[in-house]
Amino acid sequence: MAKCLVTGGAGFIGSHLTERLLSQNHEVVVLDNLSTGRDSNLDAVRDHPNLTIRSGSITDSVLLGEAAHGAEVIYHLAAAVGVKLVAEDPLRTIETNIYPTDQLLRFAAQGNVRKFFLASTSEVYGKHPGDAWVEDDGLYFGPTSRPRWAYGCSKAIDEFLALAYHQKYGLGVTIGRFFNVVGPRQVGNYGMVVPRFVESALKGGPVTVYDDGSQVRCFGHVSEVVDCVYSLVENDASAGSVFNIGSNQAVSILELAQAVIDKIDPDIEIRFIPYNEAYGADFEDVQRRVPNTDRLYEFAGQRPAMTLDRILDDVIAWKKAELSL
Ligand SMILES: NC(=O)c1ccc[n+]([C@@H]2O[C@H](COP(=O)([O-])OP(=O)(O)OC[C@H]3O[C@@H](n4cnc5c(N)ncnc54)[C@H](O)[C@@H]3O)[C@@H](O)[C@H]2O)c1
Repeated sequence: MAKCLVTGGAGFIGSHLTERLLSQNHEVVVLDNLSTGRDSNLDAVRDHPNLTIRSGSITDSVLLGEAAHGAEVIYHLAAAVGVKLVAEDPLRTIETNIYPTDQLLRFAAQGNVRKFFLASTSEVYGKHPGDAWVEDDGLYFGPTSRPRWAYGCSKAIDEFLALAYHQKYGLGVTIGRFFNVVGPRQVGNYGMVVPRFVESALKGGPVTVYDDGSQVRCFGHVSEVVDCVYSLVENDASAGSVFNIGSNQAVSILELAQAVIDKIDPDIEIRFIPYNEAYGADFEDVQRRVPNTDRLYEFAGQRPAMTLDRILDDVIAWKKAELSL
């Protein structure tokens, strides 16, 4: 049993992680400002005696210090997320994703914290040209005049900071680079493709694909991702390392759209729009994003393997219930 802080614990991944930690008898403090998360995400555990929910921002350093006080394990998930939000407000991205991470690492190094999990992202690889990305590969960001790279850069700085705290103070830092995590409670408002496609299809379509849909992605189910995070943190040997966390089953966005349509209503139309209509003139995307998960498997003893078919069934069932269909 450990005292855990989960920043962003009312978010999509954070709420699943919070449930998992409580089920293992840990004490959990959630700190979340509900900017992209939802209060209702914690409904299943709201009255749990080991859960404390604190409402507020990680940018409030007094509150952050109070929430971190006494924590033995910190899971830092709160961040400005979503391609759309990041493209529209790069300043908020940088301010939310960099300074509070430094502050939290400082509190952790001064306190009683034995493990610090940092939620990073496949976006740190930027436009990496390789087939299956490995943790020690180089980073390929686009120009600073394109705001979307602010997200990956801010998370890369977080990684540098976390590894520096590990090196200088011996803090047990584990970094997880999430690759397209999907599942119940994920919302489509901020550019997440699976909930967006499913919701459009359930409402009768059309399903809108950006560009020609040839972009390649891998989708991992949140329950398996959370299992991997927990296993990594439980394994002390993961400290000081970076891990890709995601599925390695590649699918194009057009294939994804077709799979969603086949499950909901084959008559639904696919509409193609250029990126600039979705994200503004300065947008550039990543063509192929596939992780190598060998290191994850070595240290966590598992990797996300659920088929896209099962993942979509789960997301569709959840969305139908949410929309009362
Ligand atoms: N979902 C994915 O596919 C994915 C991929 C790569 C990385 N990630 C990372 O995983 C983490 C969780 O993402 P998610 O998909 O669950 O998104 P999410 O938006 O559901 O979760 C983020 C949570 O952080 C909270 N938050 C944001 N700013 C805050 C602030 N200033 N103070 C307090 N709380 C704040 C939000 O309200 C939300 O509950 C993020 O760090 C994100 O960068 C997610």
